[in-house]
Amino acid sequence: MANRVCPHWVGYLLINPLRNLFENPNKILGPFVQEGMTVLEPGCGMGYFTLPLARMVGPKGRIVAVDIQSKMLSALRRRAQKAGLLDRIELRHIRDDGLGVKDISGKVDFAVALHVVHEVPDPSSFYTEVWQTLKQGSKLLVVEPKGHVSQDQFAASVAAAENVGFVSEVLSKKMGGRVALLIKKTN
Ligand SMILES: C[S@@+](CC[C@H](N)C(=O)[O-])C[C@H]1O[C@@H](n2cnc3c(N)ncnc32)[C@H](O)[C@@H]1O
Repeated sequence: MANRVCPHWVGYLLINPLRNLFENPNKILGPFVQEGMTVLEPGCGMGYFTLPLARMVGPKGRIVAVDIQSKMLSALRRRAQKAGLLDRIELRHIRDDGLGVKDISGKVDFAVALHVVHEVPDPSSFYTEVWQTLKQGSKLLVVEPKGHVSQDQFAASVAAAENVGFVSEVLSKKMGGRVALLIKKTN
């Protein structure tokens, strides 16, 4: 895996509305998110997916948006404020020694890792931390960029998640080549 954190200025490219044409947040996330949910989003960047998620969970829901770059989070804060969604989004700036989500252990209904796993130093630790936040039976959706992550690298990443205990669900081919839906199942 490349293991390189994207520079903060790339965050501005990632919030370009043209991205909707090939990566529409409502289509990708809509089937999994319901009103009132608590959603964990590590690697939120400037919030291309965070704002649609906040609309989907509604006023009673919550998005825990985590990033290691403060500039990503300050842009997300401004955008969320402007959209009137800031009260549904908890922004967390973390250092590179974990996701800092122990306090929400077992409280998360759905988690997303969108174009981030290839940037984390230790995918196994990453998956373990996300696993601990999820309620039993809840899911983690992983999407990786084809340009940065080969099919083999993606398979290795999914295998790391399965080692942690996630069970991967077969997805429709329409979802694309680097997408995995991982379920926290026990026995
Ligand atoms: C390629 S960007 C994707 C941003 C957003 N998910 C999107 O699709 O527009 C990856 C983001 O993950 C963040 N990131 C990288 N390593 C991380 C880590 N270990 N923990 C949390 N966030 C991380 C980066 O700072 C960056 O904002």
